[in-house]
Amino acid sequence: EIHPSAKEGSKAVAQEIATLIREKQAAGQHCVLGLATGSTPKYMYAELVRMHKEEGLSFKNVFTFNLDEYYPIEPDALQSYNRFMKEHLFNHIDIPEGQYHIPDGTIPKDQIKKYCESYDKRIEELGGIDLQVLGIGNNGHIGFNEPGSNINSHTRLVTLDNSTRLANAYEFPNMSQVPRLAITMGLGSIFKAKRILLMAWGTHKAKIVCRSVEGHSSDQVPASLLQQHPNCKFVIDEQAATEL
Ligand code: GLP
Repeated sequence: EIHPSAKEGSKAVAQEIATLIREKQAAGQHCVLGLATGSTPKYMYAELVRMHKEEGLSFKNVFTFNLDEYYPIEPDALQSYNRFMKEHLFNHIDIPEGQYHIPDGTIPKDQIKKYCESYDKRIEELGGIDLQVLGIGNNGHIGFNEPGSNINSHTRLVTLDNSTRLANAYEFPNMSQVPRLAITMGLGSIFKAKRILLMAWGTHKAKIVCRSVEGHSSDQVPASLLQQHPNCKFVIDEQAATEL
């Protein structure tokens, strides 16, 4: 789905999310969202906050699971995805405490495996993710599933590619402070989502969008594996569509 601008694409995604939340509310059901961080979803979150404030969109029936978090990192660190989500969404809406989940970057290393298993289990207990929102890294990563990630992988601790650390270095005082590790939901966990919306804006994403949509579906470009998902849509702007 190609929009004239990132702003319009973000509004369309926010609208799809709001419609799902309202449908679930009307049916007396809860709604499970998978959420992403990075610069890509910022305007989409702003739009959801606007809908909450101006249109009364309620998140009381919503449960959310974020894709990833750096490791180790304190939740209030400037670069923490826990902090990002509070600043961009959770502090401004009526989602009850305990209904949003973001991987914890402070879990002791020897407890991470168990922690990750419980993250996936909690998603399953709630009936799985109804709608998963994704961004895309320049190397095709989704969440922090770097090239080579197994299509059946679960939530786990991963090593970041150097290219990812470089791409995200602008958030940190210097390159040496960019974490080498992260906790990410696995490709298997993402693939279980009933519906997936991947957003990409700008010419710098045009090449990887093209490789993901038109290229061979391979674990060397994790986003290209989404070709195998039964209900996945790429929502992009005209700039990100220039190589298609
Ligand atoms: C980050 C995140 C991803 C995100 C991607 C793109 O490293 N872990 O979840 O989708 O890279 O980031 P951006 O939206 O800033 O381009």
